[in-house]
Amino acid sequence: MRFEVLTLFPEMIRDSFMTGITGRAAGRGLVELDTVNIRDYAVNDYGSVDDYTYGGGAGMLMMCEPVYSAFLEAKRRLGDEKTRVVFLTPSGRTFDEKTARELSGEKGLILLCGHYEGIDERVIDEIVTDPVSIGDYVLTGGELPALVVMDAVTRLIPGVLGNDDSSESESFNDGLLEYPQYTRPPLWHDREVPDILLSGDHKKIDQYRMRAARQKTKEVRPDLYEEYIKKRGIF
Ligand code: ADE
Repeated sequence: MRFEVLTLFPEMIRDSFMTGITGRAAGRGLVELDTVNIRDYAVNDYGSVDDYTYGGGAGMLMMCEPVYSAFLEAKRRLGDEKTRVVFLTPSGRTFDEKTARELSGEKGLILLCGHYEGIDERVIDEIVTDPVSIGDYVLTGGELPALVVMDAVTRLIPGVLGNDDSSESESFNDGLLEYPQYTRPPLWHDREVPDILLSGDHKKIDQYRMRAARQKTKEVRPDLYEEYIKKRGIF
């Protein structure tokens, strides 16, 4: 997987992605990260990439041409292959594990980070294939959402997580939240690890974990629990 990120803050993307598990994945060649600084394609010597909105309204809008030129550069670096272009915007479709899985099968992805009050709609219409939101709240820019998407996609690439099972068993894989987990010591602040987990009986442990996952989902995310019950025909 190769990520090409179109951004006004390339160092924010690089510094964060190159830290921790995603950075290690990049170091091992399982994923590549490249950034294109939209400011390098400014329309004048002052470095302008934004302008006032036609029709009035607060704030500035990113102009078509700098964004389009940055996109062409990313496309050129990807060998001009047909590549999906993810635009991070609160007006996009809500990002979830299913989308992460779908995107993780791509050879390359272009991610477009907006700033100011948004981007001229014409360049969005021309280049964007997937407008994506990470939730119903508004951030100051698309960089954090791009990092969220890249992180969720990277951890699904085979070999990235130490234990190949761990991306399978975690929350959302079968529509339930993850069951609670414990490590040593068995007693901490008067809180005990459930006996069954110390029993060594793996069948019983699996049953306990399934029950705990269902219980937790029912409490914390009744919407997900409802879905789960419906899908399995359990009443
Ligand atoms: N840009 C600003 N807010 C955003 C959000 N919630 N999701 C994606 N991109 C954004």
